[in-house]
Amino acid sequence: MVNCKLLFAFINTTGRSFHNPSSGYHDLYTIISQRHKSIVKMNAPLPLNSQDDDTIQDEPLRVEGVTLKMAFDRSYAVADNSDKKSERFTCPLSLDLVHRLRRCSDAVLVGRRTVERDDCTLTVRRVPLWKGKEQPARVVLDPQLKIFGNTGEQADGQYKYTLLKDDLTTRVYYGNVEEKKLPLLLQDSVTLVNTAYQSDGTNQRLSPHNIIQDLKSEGFRHLMIEGGSATAIEFLSEKLIDRAIMIRAPMDFIDPVSSGMSDAMMNEAGLELLKAVPCGDDTVEFWSKVGIPWPTGGTVKLWEWPC
Ligand SMILES: NC(=O)c1ccc[n+]([C@@H]2O[C@H](COP(=O)([O-])OP(=O)(O)OC[C@H]3O[C@@H](n4cnc5c(N)ncnc54)[C@H](OP(=O)(O)O)[C@@H]3O)[C@@H](O)[C@H]2O)c1
Repeated sequence: MVNCKLLFAFINTTGRSFHNPSSGYHDLYTIISQRHKSIVKMNAPLPLNSQDDDTIQDEPLRVEGVTLKMAFDRSYAVADNSDKKSERFTCPLSLDLVHRLRRCSDAVLVGRRTVERDDCTLTVRRVPLWKGKEQPARVVLDPQLKIFGNTGEQADGQYKYTLLKDDLTTRVYYGNVEEKKLPLLLQDSVTLVNTAYQSDGTNQRLSPHNIIQDLKSEGFRHLMIEGGSATAIEFLSEKLIDRAIMIRAPMDFIDPVSSGMSDAMMNEAGLELLKAVPCGDDTVEFWSKVGIPWPTGGTVKLWEWPC
């Protein structure tokens, strides 16, 4: 279904409900963290994916704010330049964790280059959605609307990237784009959001703060930021990340794409490392804003989230 007009109106998200987490989780973790200097004890592994049955249940815990998720090799690199398309490099349990985080999110945000490199769908596939819950909206930061290609290529409304044509909700934030360069045809599921440009001298950028505020005002209460690192750094530098899940794979890329991220950067962003936990072959780090505990409550015990 193709709509010939640009959609500037926002779409409300509805139908949020969540699934019950697994039972039998071992709450044996020790947190020893200090402000800006974390000492973390690794002990019990993360639970196996709790959603391997088909029992669909209601949301056990409603989380708000902004959660960053990134995966790295041993040296804080995020991808391999020797691959044409980014290959998955984390273990199946870590991938399950990412999909659980997605289903606890109202929207999943990435930068323009991640869409171009990975043609990602950002959907929940490895675990069931919560009862009544829709796929999270995809949010792309693309100041010049490059993912749509050139205006002349869009005559049939068929774009290159899956999230522009799979009928699931996608919101693309952009800045100064001449009217004649705006995409002519959009699916109903795709919304363009023109947001104020911030000039920082040579670069012009979209304000992460304004984007979060806009998403909040439209009912997107929990935003997951899934990369790439340039986008993550934009949000970290404005101290807009409430918590982060950092997956460390025990491997080294052949031609590593450095993230430019570091533990120091996380601390600078006001985050502290609460805990590092084995997850299959990987290690998962839980970071949170200083003074803000990891989400828990109701039937969800500490460290069970994302459930
Ligand atoms: N390991 C992981 O966890 C992970 C996760 C995601 C992606 N990746 C990999 O990371 C690579 C891509 O990451 P990346 O860091 O190069 O790029 P990215 O973060 O995906 O995209 C960066 C682009 O997004 C736009 N953007 C982001 N924030 C903006 C802001 N505040 N204002 C304006 N524009 C903004 C800009 O587009 P313009 O250039 O058009 O201005 C910017 O160049 C790929 O190889 C992908 O496979 C890895």
